[in-house]
Amino acid sequence: MLSGTARIPGDKSISHRALILAALAVGESRIDNLCDGGDVVATMTALSAMGARIEPAGGAAWTVHGVGVGGLLQPRAPFDLGNSGTSARLLMGLVASHKIAAEFAGDASLSRRPMDRVAAPLRRIGASISGDRLPLRIAGASPAVPARHRLEIPSAQVKSALLLAGLNTPGITELIEPVPTRDHTERMLALFGADLERGEKRIALRGEAELRPRQLDIPGDASAAAFLAVAALIVPGSEVRINGVGVNPTRMGLYEVLREMGADLTFSNRREISNEPVADLLVRHSALAGVEVPPEIAPRMIDEYPILCVAAAFAAGTTRMRGLAELRLKESDRIAAMAPLGARAEGDGLAVDGSGGAPLAGGFTVDPARDHRIAMSFAVAGLRAKEPIGVADMSPVATSFPGFLSALDALQAP
Ligand code: S3P
Repeated sequence: MLSGTARIPGDKSISHRALILAALAVGESRIDNLCDGGDVVATMTALSAMGARIEPAGGAAWTVHGVGVGGLLQPRAPFDLGNSGTSARLLMGLVASHKIAAEFAGDASLSRRPMDRVAAPLRRIGASISGDRLPLRIAGASPAVPARHRLEIPSAQVKSALLLAGLNTPGITELIEPVPTRDHTERMLALFGADLERGEKRIALRGEAELRPRQLDIPGDASAAAFLAVAALIVPGSEVRINGVGVNPTRMGLYEVLREMGADLTFSNRREISNEPVADLLVRHSALAGVEVPPEIAPRMIDEYPILCVAAAFAAGTTRMRGLAELRLKESDRIAAMAPLGARAEGDGLAVDGSGGAPLAGGFTVDPARDHRIAMSFAVAGLRAKEPIGVADMSPVATSFPGFLSALDALQAP
């Protein structure tokens, strides 16, 4: 049984954006509850190498002395972005409109992931980029030319890269986003005082912006909370509270689907911090039923399919998820990665037959292939299995949720 109040890190997506915009503001910002994962540290290190002064301010708080839009300095060494796709893509956008050049490198997982989705539109604004996979070199355009981009792939990373490039591009950068994706960059740009217009499918940003420093508090990470929430749902007798979780509607797909499956989830004390909605979450063990998960919801729960597969493995009946082509391009091929749980590839999606609440057989070990979300998903599945489920390498959790195992242990304490 899991009980008590869980500790989760600050939201990883929002943490990257807070650091980047604080580094571009003129003066000192303070960021509380910054995500302590390696991905965010990769962004921080790269920003420091371009002249921002970023210093610890106790606990999870940091101060950032920004250089101003247009003020980034030439880095002296290649950026090592580790496992972090968000760092790579957002920083490519940032460098693309500055008068600097930078080399981008990452681990084996990141070096396999496609960068053409960002590189192609950045070349249109004048940046010169050596390849479509890491390692690559990018030389910024000076000045960049403003463009109107249509986002063919629903990707918040691509959208954000283009908006960040737009900050130091004269004139108006315009984006058409047919399918909405997480809007943390837009919210954070507004908070820092950028001139941004948002329509239903259109975003327009005026360049050569002057950003004002801010005091920010980062909401808890809904994607990290998802692992503890599903753990509580599948272990009988559990009741877990997770306070201060970000509840931005563009991130809530998993929670919507879990509710439809019969999950007992209560969000209370809704409030706003740093221009983002947050709430306190209470999760109780629940009997779950399999559902059809339509493709339209994918952008709102893109990182949560592995842990949804775990919930589905305990549901009564089959859960079918469609529209998952992007999952093959994440930190690992997440469609293939979920096979040990009985998840079958079906068309462009997955199907999982559930146990109806009975424990899984277990008795196997998975290699998470440097993918934090795969490691955490199987660790959660192992909480309710007859034979142990082994995870060959838990170190990838440090990219987003270094305290994951201790948070889970604390909930299991008698
Ligand atoms: C992220 C966007 C998503 C998500 C990733 C974080 C972001 O990627 O999977 O973990 O912070 O913008 P895509 O933009 O590739 O969908």
